[in-house]
Amino acid sequence: MWYFVSPQVVFGEGALDALDELEGQRALIVTDPVIIQLGLVERVQVHLERAGFDVRVFSQVEPDPSVQTAQRGAEVAAACTPDWIVGLGGGSVLDAAKAIWVLYERTDLEPGEINPFVRLNLRQKARLVTIPTTSGTGADVTWAIVLTDTDEQRKMGLGNRENVADMAIVDPSLAVGMPPQLTSDTGLDALVHAIEGYTCTWHNDFTDGLCLNAARLVMTYLPRAVADGSDVEARERLHNAATCAGLGFGNAMASMAHAMGHALGAIFHLPHGRAVGICLPYTVEFAAREAPKRFADLARFLQCATSAGEEGARSLVAALRDLYRQIGVPTSLAEAGIARSAFDAQLDKLVDDAFNDTQMITAVRSPSYEELRRLFEDVYAGRVVAY
Ligand SMILES: NC(=O)c1ccc[n+]([C@@H]2O[C@H](COP(=O)([O-])OP(=O)(O)OC[C@H]3O[C@@H](n4cnc5c(N)ncnc54)[C@H](O)[C@@H]3O)[C@@H](O)[C@H]2O)c1
Ligand SMILES: [Zn+2]
Repeated sequence: MWYFVSPQVVFGEGALDALDELEGQRALIVTDPVIIQLGLVERVQVHLERAGFDVRVFSQVEPDPSVQTAQRGAEVAAACTPDWIVGLGGGSVLDAAKAIWVLYERTDLEPGEINPFVRLNLRQKARLVTIPTTSGTGADVTWAIVLTDTDEQRKMGLGNRENVADMAIVDPSLAVGMPPQLTSDTGLDALVHAIEGYTCTWHNDFTDGLCLNAARLVMTYLPRAVADGSDVEARERLHNAATCAGLGFGNAMASMAHAMGHALGAIFHLPHGRAVGICLPYTVEFAAREAPKRFADLARFLQCATSAGEEGARSLVAALRDLYRQIGVPTSLAEAGIARSAFDAQLDKLVDDAFNDTQMITAVRSPSYEELRRLFEDVYAGRVVAY
């Protein structure tokens, strides 16, 4: 038995108007200082006030939010008793908003206890709207919550089906101001979601189509959006792609590049999309010899391969490397600016954390501990994986 979980998705130019229809008295916007500065909070607030809400703002969410931030946000929610929580921002803000909502509803829970196996019984106090301002994570539609344990320098994969948002508002006008590097980092995240969602062992008939289409949209429109941020068509299609990929991998799973990327992000503070993006070609190469089929099928769909099997999977890698060069993304950890000495000092922890990450269980070829260590070395040095 399996579930397909999704909020109601409102998309396209003008989608923010859906806020006018919300019913309630008090709304808490969860966001970060950059989103305030960009004037996006104001745009949302106007709609909420028009709908009759008394609006409060919690804007202390940092990139890769910590457990403590979620707890602070929940205290603010407890004080202002919202009946709607509105997450407005990138994946960091949306994850924080989901956690804040759960902790506001369930004051008896610690953040670490938000897992798929508990009955949360949410929606007693509030409901959740998610509004992404980056085109990447799909966190607007997934129930996953990623919080960082700052003491252990480790990302924790939390979440429960119940904490999926009630409504996701996917309005591309919120993402048009992203600078090129944020566009490429977050666009890569969407691409990795699409590819890992399609190829992981939990892929299914309900998610395959979403993942395929999202992968094709990112390959087509990401170079355009990076080259010209004001290309409205590219922005809109990418924004849609990120949410489609979120529905895809969120109802299947991600995989090895995410396990490795989480470990890297928590230690070296690489942006999430760049971290998983750098790892992806290597994890595809690692899978290519033993389990090439789905990668080769995907390459054929993207029209970058004519052959099946290992060769087909490797042509997907070649297409990825071309894309990275085109949009100026590093193809190895050394190129990403991580010093050799820092990498060596952290290698044991990287291997440990990635090996134990929840996303590792869906890999089509499971690495041994030693293979994973070797893979990290290859990702560092930019070596082709041929074992
Ligand atoms: N829950 C999930 O399903 C899921 C999936 C993937 C990633 N994540 C998590 O999401 C986080 C990454 O999210 P992200 O990549 O969206 O980045 P982010 O949310 O960390 O934002 C990065 C920076 O970009 C700024 N920003 C956001 N929107 C902007 C805009 N329109 N214009 C200019 N600047 C803008 C933010 O203020 C922030 O400073 C990571 O913590 C990752 O672990 C969660
Ligand atoms: Zn991701």
